[in-house]
Amino acid sequence: MSPTAAPPLLSAQSVFDVSGQSFVVTGAASGLGAAMSEVLSANGAHVLLMDSDAQALTAVHERLSVTGGRVQSQVVDVSNAQALQKHVADFVASRQGLDGLFANAGISGGPGFGTAAGAVTGGLEAQSPQDWERIFRINLHGVVASMQSAVSVMKLQKRGSLVLTASIAGVKAEPFVSYAYATVKSAVIQLMRQSALELAPFGVRVNAIAPGFIITNIAGGRLHDSATALSLQSKIPLGRLGSASELHGVTLLLASQASSYITGALIPVDGGVLAL
Ligand SMILES: NC(=O)c1ccc[n+]([C@@H]2O[C@H](COP(=O)([O-])OP(=O)(O)OC[C@H]3O[C@@H](n4cnc5c(N)ncnc54)[C@H](O)[C@@H]3O)[C@@H](O)[C@H]2O)c1
Repeated sequence: MSPTAAPPLLSAQSVFDVSGQSFVVTGAASGLGAAMSEVLSANGAHVLLMDSDAQALTAVHERLSVTGGRVQSQVVDVSNAQALQKHVADFVASRQGLDGLFANAGISGGPGFGTAAGAVTGGLEAQSPQDWERIFRINLHGVVASMQSAVSVMKLQKRGSLVLTASIAGVKAEPFVSYAYATVKSAVIQLMRQSALELAPFGVRVNAIAPGFIITNIAGGRLHDSATALSLQSKIPLGRLGSASELHGVTLLLASQASSYITGALIPVDGGVLAL
């Protein structure tokens, strides 16, 4: 029997194809956002990298450009809805459309009421209004503003993928994270569901990723600390923390037609934590 080539439409390359497509990634200068941007650009997509950290953004832009990525970058604070709207509109105009937006930028919001090892470090009364306000402004209003910057064009096109970075902390209580962070990530999950329902008739899909403990620069890089990592490992069925590159697969899934029938879904990337 002569060897036959796989049907082209079933190759991984075509199922997960994002080449020539256009995406916006917020929080692109570090961690998960940098990983999302790198896999999209490595697979031929045009990516607008957005972040408030100019220096880190330049470094990621240069790294992706050197390897042939078709990237643009823009320093912006996601809580500045007007600036965000303008930069996304400029990108959409230059690309004549938008295939997806990853609303990923976020901050940790300080310590929780317990350490990773379970020691009590503070409680509800220690959470300041300023902490709550800052988290709401960046992790919730910033996500809403990011979605709003993309939704009109997606409705007009009758297609598009909005991907929100939530967290396992929005589903499951975790002493290690702050009250404000956990509360707002839960709101992001419901924001995803509510908007998925509204936008489905327009062919616009909305999904969220729930990362577990992934080693990035969040929270001042405390997940890089080996003692912290060691105490968290026992909470993770796969027995280890994740790395940002382990977001590559889910990024391509949600960016491409591979997820054409997935909307309103929360996809954990957590080593099994939410299964417990
Ligand atoms: N790392 C984890 O374990 C983990 C777990 C669950 C959820 N998350 C979520 O993943 C997302 C990315 O976090 P990460 O772990 O990659 O952290 P990170 O700190 O490595 O990267 C976050 C990026 O967002 C940028 N950013 C912060 N505030 C911003 C603002 N106002 N405007 C624009 N950019 C801003 C930062 O400059 C940084 O480049 C966040 O939403 C976070 O809550 C992370």
